Amino acid sequence: MNIVVGITGGIAAYKAVGVVRALVLAGHDVHVVATDAALRFVGRPTLEAISRNPVHSDLYEGVAEVRHVALGQRADLIVIAPATAHTLAKLATGLADDLLGNTVLASSAPLVLAPAMHTEMWQHPATVANVRTLVERGAQLVGPGSGQLTGSDSGPGRMAEVDDIVAAALAAAGPRDLAGRRILVTAGGTREPLDPVRFIGNRSSGKQGVALARAAALRGAAVTLVVANIDDGVLADEGLPGVEVVHVSTTLELQEAAQHAAGEADVVIMAAAVADYHPESVAQEKIKKETQGDELELRLVRNPDILKELTAARREGQLFVGFAAETERDRDALLELGRAKAARKGVDYLVLNRVGWSEGFATDRNAVTVLNAGGDIVGDADGTKTSVADRILDLVIGDHD
Ligand code: CTP
Repeated sequence: MNIVVGITGGIAAYKAVGVVRALVLAGHDVHVVATDAALRFVGRPTLEAISRNPVHSDLYEGVAEVRHVALGQRADLIVIAPATAHTLAKLATGLADDLLGNTVLASSAPLVLAPAMHTEMWQHPATVANVRTLVERGAQLVGPGSGQLTGSDSGPGRMAEVDDIVAAALAAAGPRDLAGRRILVTAGGTREPLDPVRFIGNRSSGKQGVALARAAALRGAAVTLVVANIDDGVLADEGLPGVEVVHVSTTLELQEAAQHAAGEADVVIMAAAVADYHPESVAQEKIKKETQGDELELRLVRNPDILKELTAARREGQLFVGFAAETERDRDALLELGRAKAARKGVDYLVLNRVGWSEGFATDRNAVTVLNAGGDIVGDADGTKTSVADRILDLVIGDHD
């Protein structure tokens, strides 16, 4: 693919070198268009060596070959990383006072933007409006994430990680093979309240489910994401254009939202970690040690099995994907647990992963094995949760085309 990587003037420009490198290593012909400000942050020789092409920055160079439109016309994909607040404003209004502005205007290729700026700038109504305009016009946003910024401050505004930018870019230019599909994804972990301040919960971060929702949306699906108790950062990190997000907390709330959305869905992916029990009664006031003494007994009652109920009521052609996070260390025994669970839940596919005190939860990586309804292994995936999400979609949906 012929890819233009636009680099604008933010400190995150140094990370753009990684984006260029990954795209070149993936076999693409990469042309860097850098603003003058970007070249104050990262050197032209670095970008030329890594991209293996001349770096373009001047509107008045290469006039004879009409470079200001040629780069855009030839591009199959434009990625701008970092995209500063200033650049977003320029692109939103269609300004063409530099080579990058001209290149974008002269192109009908997918446009992927990786914003990077301080939190105040990202949250400023001007930037919010510009981003909305660009997204409505079809630009694909990746990030920004939440985290440590250049100074001592932290918050949303940090440029997305290189792997995620590359994955979003390639997905934006890739086939929209899920266009026309309705997909319901559940993510996070349900919580069951004990009293107004306490709950029984689990350690699911929701990252894999959110990555699935995002990957499906990037591939053209209409996605509903029902999330239970995930950090704001997980949603913001992923940037979720085209995904309808429904927030819930308890298992019963998740059940209601999932049942509602499942009615319309062609594919249901239950990545949420669902609490199997809830306290028989919820104290209306904070439970006190003085009244409980040295021991506190909790009576828990079973929650409904949401997935089992959904598969029991399946419509013709509906596809169900369950998840199973198991602590079993022996691979054969793990697969047996997975096979039994796939059968018990009535799913078409079961995504099996091992979890432990330090495995599986909250990390950005995952390793899974996907089983079909009959318990056969249809594939494995190991990598970032973003890449695992795409692989799962390939395995469970691609299989049916
Ligand atoms: N699940 C569900 N409703 C529940 C419990 C689980 O819909 N009450 C779904 C999960 O979202 C997941 C799949 O079922 O997709 C398997 O979840 P898991 O917790 O591994 O299964 P359980 O049936 O709870 O079995 P276990 O006794 O092993 O916890």
